[in-house]
Amino acid sequence: MTRPITFPQDRSCPYEPPAGYRSLRQEGPLTRVTLYDGSTAWAVTGHAEARRLLGDPRLSADRRKPGFPMTSHVLTALRHLPPLLFNADEPEHGRQRRMLIPGFGVPRIRALRPRIQQIVDELLDTMVEQGPPAELVSAFALPVPSMAISLLLGVPYEDHTSFEELSRLVMRGSGPEESAAARGKMLGYLEGLLIDKERRRRQGQEDGPQSGLLDELVRDRLLTGQTDHEEIARLAFNLLVAGHETTTNMISLGTLLLLERPDRTAALRADPGLLPQTVDELMRHLSVVDELLRVATEDIPCGTQVIRAGEGVVFNTSMINRDADHFPEPDELRLDRAGQHHLAFGFGVHQCLGQNLARLELEVALGTLFRRLPRLRSSVTVDELPIKPGDTIQGLIEFPVEW
Ligand code: HEM
Repeated sequence: MTRPITFPQDRSCPYEPPAGYRSLRQEGPLTRVTLYDGSTAWAVTGHAEARRLLGDPRLSADRRKPGFPMTSHVLTALRHLPPLLFNADEPEHGRQRRMLIPGFGVPRIRALRPRIQQIVDELLDTMVEQGPPAELVSAFALPVPSMAISLLLGVPYEDHTSFEELSRLVMRGSGPEESAAARGKMLGYLEGLLIDKERRRRQGQEDGPQSGLLDELVRDRLLTGQTDHEEIARLAFNLLVAGHETTTNMISLGTLLLLERPDRTAALRADPGLLPQTVDELMRHLSVVDELLRVATEDIPCGTQVIRAGEGVVFNTSMINRDADHFPEPDELRLDRAGQHHLAFGFGVHQCLGQNLARLELEVALGTLFRRLPRLRSSVTVDELPIKPGDTIQGLIEFPVEW
């Protein structure tokens, strides 16, 4: 018997899945993989199988359950934490998600467009004033989502740089200790902020210009006794981290990929109306969150295989989104894929809550960047760009550019 393929693997090209994942796909839609700690799990690479399984309540997102697939040291260090949203099952998951839904609906997010446009314009003004050259991740790709999520939550704008650093350390500090320390600091900050918001509310002060979803949670859930500071702080922490890393990586990788396809960039400049489809196709192609993790709580038949209770399952979205049985010419960037439903935002009850915000940020950021800097180019070749390791969200560590 051949040795199972290891998972996760590092990308060698920042916008393509690693060659090893393609071998995985060739072995079938559901195959065994070896994780970093030597344990094994099922890897799902088929689109139809992924949609079916991600909608199956017999798969749990609770990391504390035996057999839950651990894909990095950082994740293993976090496994004992009480489940929250991403890693909670029903009914707890639904209760927490319902608290947040009003903040992420289409009308609320649409109303943020002028403020997000202003953030993007100001960041580009600064970049242009100071450059060329510039480092696109720190000058643009990171502050856009960080400022946008601060705006939505009602976290003071001026604190965004410390979140960016803490969020980076949580996701990929030097190891579990550094990650836990950064998490502790961020939670402490958020609890302090909530206490302050609660005090103001109890004193009868009205919402100010820096109010947001957290102020609503204090008013509607905390003061009514439905939740406590700790839960809101942990939810806010998850939103800050989820809102930063993912969108930052999509902005930097999306820029890189579009620069590699000048025909696409030219088409976008000529017709900004193509932005929504372009963003959607970039999401599919780049699949920056390329592992979704679950464990089976009962035996689940899937095609010719059976996932046994207690076995881990990793959904490898970068291959699911390149499944040739579902996406014609899966490696091509095409704008005619409406209705094909990629899984870059996940699927089922945990499907990304922030996707309206992410799409808006990407449309404004990429559209404005290519319009304002038509001569934008990378300062180095693609293989010289430092990329993030396979066991985290996929993206560029730095992206030196000129124009
Ligand atoms: C382009 C950027 C983004 C990508 C690629 C992305 C991707 C994902 C994926 C794949 C999931 C499902 C995880 C799973 O099933 O285990 C998810 C869930 C989630 N995302 Fe995003 N996301 C992005 C942006 C955002 C933003 C901006 C926010 C909010 C500020 C956000 C908040 C969330 C939350 C709260 C969940 C958990 C939902 C639940 O468990 O019910 N995401 N995201």
